[in-house]
Amino acid sequence: MKKIIIAIDGYSACGKSTTARQVASRLGYGYIDTGAMYRATALYFHQHYVHLTNPIAIAKALEDISITFHYNEKLHRNETYLNGLNVEDEIRKMYISDIVSEVSAVPEVRKEMTMLQRKMGKKRGVVMDGRDIGTNVYPDAELKIFMVADMHIRAARRQQELLERKQVVDLDEIIENLAKRDHLDTTRTEGPLSKAEDAYVVDTSFITLEEQTDYILGLATSKIVNSYMAEQLNQDPF
Ligand code: DC
Repeated sequence: MKKIIIAIDGYSACGKSTTARQVASRLGYGYIDTGAMYRATALYFHQHYVHLTNPIAIAKALEDISITFHYNEKLHRNETYLNGLNVEDEIRKMYISDIVSEVSAVPEVRKEMTMLQRKMGKKRGVVMDGRDIGTNVYPDAELKIFMVADMHIRAARRQQELLERKQVVDLDEIIENLAKRDHLDTTRTEGPLSKAEDAYVVDTSFITLEEQTDYILGLATSKIVNSYMAEQLNQDPF
């Protein structure tokens, strides 16, 4: 059966990653957290003092960066590696959340990440979550989701996630960070966060993870069947 691309875009902390992971696992698809790629890049820039106004340093850094994902059997999750080093916990810290939107607004960074993401989804059969997947990386994705949620609910969820990673962060600080990133992500010139015309809007404020996963799986199944039927109809029966 033909494999499709599922693009899940939306604001930070709406539940994109958790839902995308579940949808991918139920379909036997790969899962790519594109936010983690921007976070890993931001970490590298931070560690190597790469200034965002220095195009030569940016180009050199992008040449030196290798980002990969590896499955952690014990924790049952994909983890992010930067130049062979596991950075999964480091990239989720607040100091990275504070700088990542500026780093991801740099056109050269977006160009490089977009190229990598297109390579990763070349064989299709992936669920990719981010900001510009349905609009820029895979405008031809068979299924596009745009996730939204109430700001206070998003912040409370992010606080819980950070707590699970043993980081205690004040709710106001999280709200401030999310609001700042919403603004930067939606107003940048390259690949801004916006809803693709053909995306389904999913408001996750008052539904459970199971409900949102089932809804997207239902849509995905019908898209997969439709693609299959279209393929069959186009085939010469003899
Ligand atoms: O999904 P996240 O919060 O981990 O993403 C971190 C940042 O990366 C987010 O503030 C914007 C940026 N990002 C992006 O610009 N494009 C993507 N496709 C994914 C993330």
